[in-house]
Amino acid sequence: MRITIGKLMEMKQQGEKISMLTAYDYSTARLIDEAGIPLILVGDSLGMVMLGYDSTIPVTIDEMIHHTKAVSRGAKNALVVGDMPFMTYHTSVEEALRNAGRFLQEGGCQTVKLEGGEAVAEKVSRIVAAGIPVMGHLGYTPQSTHQLGGPKAVGKSTEAAAQLIKDAKILEEAGAFAIVLELVPAPLAKLITEKVSVPIIGIGAGKDCDGQVQVINDLLGLISDFVPKHAKQYARLCDTIRFAITEYITEVKAGTFPTAEHSPTMDESILNNLK
Ligand code: KIV
Repeated sequence: MRITIGKLMEMKQQGEKISMLTAYDYSTARLIDEAGIPLILVGDSLGMVMLGYDSTIPVTIDEMIHHTKAVSRGAKNALVVGDMPFMTYHTSVEEALRNAGRFLQEGGCQTVKLEGGEAVAEKVSRIVAAGIPVMGHLGYTPQSTHQLGGPKAVGKSTEAAAQLIKDAKILEEAGAFAIVLELVPAPLAKLITEKVSVPIIGIGAGKDCDGQVQVINDLLGLISDFVPKHAKQYARLCDTIRFAITEYITEVKAGTFPTAEHSPTMDESILNNLK
């Protein structure tokens, strides 16, 4: 049975921590889903980890929908969140609605996420009114990286902290079912978690949020040369993959792969007739 937004609310009320991971393809989504995770985010971080862009800004809605389709096919129980990319919800309420609808109709996910607080509140409430659950995203918002001056903590001054609390309340009132809080000092994230009724999902925001989200590539150690401060490598798959590929090359060169068992057999007499 698929997780619902009501279930996530129950989890918050009962103090049951919520885990969320990104996925960008069918196979990974299946593995995450089978492990029992309640929330899968098809993050626009795919721009960096899947497509090799240097930020999320070049990611298009067609790229997002392509990957959302694959993840949706693999996720049978988790609630799938499609991340609305840069400039797909900024110009007008109508465009935001149309693009949010594409995620559900074409991508097959159940919910969408967009970045920002007060500035996107009207869009959030109109998308929610159309029957599409919306997850908010506050703190460091990667689509505004050039305005924010790169990835850095948000909410460290009195004004910035007060604005963050205000934005979280506004998103809650606009009908967001949950809010991602990125790179926010832990005590402030705890306060926001206490002040709003919807689940707060942290990334680099301490342990007192209602849940945590991580980029799957960081968690699995798929990228060897950069580990963000907020990430923990639960595996070093980059080493495992490198080892496997090197072994493969060696065996192909040596002629020890493939062996007879790796290809179909045939009746020798047929072959003899052909000689
Ligand atoms: O795109 C993404 O992966 C995200 C998470 C970091 C929350 O927005």
